[in-house]
Amino acid sequence: MAGVTDAAFRQRLRRNGCCRLSTEMVSAAALARGNRRTLGYLAVPDLGPDLEVQLFGANPAELAEAGAMAVDAGFAAVDLNAGCPVKKVVGGGAGAALLRDPAHLGRCLAALRRVVPGQLSVKIRAGWDAASINCTQVARIAADAGVDRITLHPRTRSQGYSGLADWSLVEELVRECRVPVVGNGDIDSAAVAVERLRSSGCAGVMVGRAALGQPWLFAQAAELWQGRPAGPPPAPRQIGEDLVAQLRDLVRWKGERVAVVEMRKFVAWGAKGFVGVAEFRRSTQHVTEARELEERVHGFFDAIGEEGA
Ligand SMILES: Cc1cc2nc3c(=O)[nH]c(=O)nc-3n(C[C@H](O)[C@H](O)[C@H](O)COP(=O)(O)O)c2cc1C
Repeated sequence: MAGVTDAAFRQRLRRNGCCRLSTEMVSAAALARGNRRTLGYLAVPDLGPDLEVQLFGANPAELAEAGAMAVDAGFAAVDLNAGCPVKKVVGGGAGAALLRDPAHLGRCLAALRRVVPGQLSVKIRAGWDAASINCTQVARIAADAGVDRITLHPRTRSQGYSGLADWSLVEELVRECRVPVVGNGDIDSAAVAVERLRSSGCAGVMVGRAALGQPWLFAQAAELWQGRPAGPPPAPRQIGEDLVAQLRDLVRWKGERVAVVEMRKFVAWGAKGFVGVAEFRRSTQHVTEARELEERVHGFFDAIGEEGA
């Protein structure tokens, strides 16, 4: 998730049982140009077999160059974004705009396939709009181009994030597609994650927004999947400690000034649902020092009873 799944948050997700992660989406054009800031997205401190880099772009030559750079940087897996609905991205023909020209998407993936020896995947939406739902056709072309996995977020580009993800499309794709399908969309609890896995028969589920406020969902889902009861959510004090650990990683990797600013939204997400969240959020808005943010996080979470009151 752009602006969210940086290395420090990924480490927090790992601590909470997440077993596969992606970088924020990275512009292939900017990588190919050698943009210094964008190159930073490839120099990750948490490189490992559980991490893929997600590229966006619409130019096969640029994608191939960016893919090769990612492989050189040590990434074992590369994903192409063909689902982003944001105007700036689709305006350049990338993200969900690729769904409007499946043959071109096939050329983009074929260009990546030539340079990525490891896992290559693509993340798609249901289609551009309700009148052009084409995920099955797009998936066939992607499979022909040699992808190892397809993730489907079954909303159209026109829907953005409104309405509900149509999981019947995931079920259909699982039946029709010869490569493993990962389903994504509206999974907001461990129980829903496992129910979606079982009912759709998909090879995996991907969780986006729910990870922001309840990262422990991954560990709970793993328990349920293995037939054990899901453990309770962590106690508030543990949530605070987990946030502080994320802050410390972020300070180490991005420096204190940037880390504290970026961390404010994570502590707000972490506090959501507890009494006094609005005041807590206000109290962190102008904090600039990591030590003060740590104190405020501990002050808030340590004061909450185990039941969250
Ligand atoms: C803030 C934000 C940033 C996102 N950035 C990306 C991205 O960079 N790449 C991507 O494939 N999807 C991105 N998404 C979409 C999510 O990966 C996911 O497909 C979507 O939120 C639906 O899943 P969910 O209901 O579990 O959140 C983003 C979503 C949000 C809310």
